Amino acid sequence: PPSLPVVGVGAYLIGSVPFGLLLSKMGGAGDIRKIGSGNIGATNVLRTGRRGLAAATLFLDGFKGALAVLLARVLCETGTQSAIGVAAVAVVVGHCFPVWLGFRGGKGVATGLGALLALCWPVGLACCLIWLAVAKLSHISSAGALAAFIAAPFLMPPLSMQPLHSPLPIATLLLTLLIVVRHAGNIARLISGRESRINIDPPPQD
Ligand code: G3P
Repeated sequence: PPSLPVVGVGAYLIGSVPFGLLLSKMGGAGDIRKIGSGNIGATNVLRTGRRGLAAATLFLDGFKGALAVLLARVLCETGTQSAIGVAAVAVVVGHCFPVWLGFRGGKGVATGLGALLALCWPVGLACCLIWLAVAKLSHISSAGALAAFIAAPFLMPPLSMQPLHSPLPIATLLLTLLIVVRHAGNIARLISGRESRINIDPPPQD
């Protein structure tokens, strides 16, 4: 079975595939880094008005998060919990700091949610619901993301039935710290009331 460093590098490379940027360019929406917040995630793809591209970005960024964790679970026979935890953190690090984009990547929300779903699906599901509910009520994507990932470390120990110092809760706490730090600009805008709103309601029918 692969060693922990190999798991980490493999998961990092999976996470470093910038689906938001690739889909926007291939879909004719241009370089997503030059519009809106400049982020490469689904929220910013939605700002181009291309809902299909945004949904595909959300799905593929989430999928790569889950894939890295599931691969670690399948390939690593020994120390599986540690390998799974390393994969979850490394895949989000890959999304946030991709070598291909000069280490300037996304904020890790969709990839982190995918990783949480694969780590422990009840936690992932609860965090997806928190994210959707808060984003829908506030019309602010970053508020939903922050609420979901602040809840995650509290949900993981009871729902995974693992003590605080075991791999899944530790990995979840690291994911939260990473994602909160990546949202520093969003947090400043939320506090000053300048954070941009998104429209996730379906367009009106004629
Ligand atoms: O997915 C990141 C989201 O929480 C915020 O994105 O583009 O509004 O900074 P953005």
